[in-house]
Amino acid sequence: VWRIIICLLSGYAFGCISTAYVVGKINHVDIRKYGSGNAGTTNALRTLGWKAGAITFLGDFLKAVIPIIVFRNIIFKDVEYNQLLALYMGLGIVLGHCYPFWLGFKGGKGIAVTAGVMAAFDPLLIPFFIVIFVAVVILTKYVSVGSMLISILLPVWILICYPGELHMFILGLLYVASAIFMHRANIKRLLNGTENKIGQKVKIEK
Ligand code: G3P
Repeated sequence: VWRIIICLLSGYAFGCISTAYVVGKINHVDIRKYGSGNAGTTNALRTLGWKAGAITFLGDFLKAVIPIIVFRNIIFKDVEYNQLLALYMGLGIVLGHCYPFWLGFKGGKGIAVTAGVMAAFDPLLIPFFIVIFVAVVILTKYVSVGSMLISILLPVWILICYPGELHMFILGLLYVASAIFMHRANIKRLLNGTENKIGQKVKIEK
């Protein structure tokens, strides 16, 4: 149990590093006051352009990949259930990303981070992630729909590759629950037809 707590807490600390917020500050804006108000890749892209979006994605992706790989492959190398610990750590990272204490608990929605968790969990997931996500976004024009749908990939993968591992599967489902919960405002906008489509830009007045 102590290992789980360490993974959750250190994950939370890593998750709190908000790339979108830092990138915004470098550009002299609080990203959370523009566009959707979300401190994530999509909103960085929408408000600050593709370079800011790419850096935000990379930063958030790596803040999941690096700590998980270090903990699983070095610190908890000899722990038999270290793949389970990776999922716990990832949940901590998602939580820190979505609710960073130093930003008044107002962060992002955790999808770039979830992509990082999947990459660290099993790199084979990444081609599936890219193809499904890109296809859904191109077809629907809504990043939020792609984001929510792609989160399902993790529990499905666990079901296929780790049959009978109920504990892992439940953790996988928590990622889906988190993605849906974090997108609740997007779901409302989708239902009333006001959700931002990909490519829509936001004007910044400083
Ligand atoms: O991962 C976030 C994305 O799905 C939606 O972002 O800024 O449109 O709420 P946003």
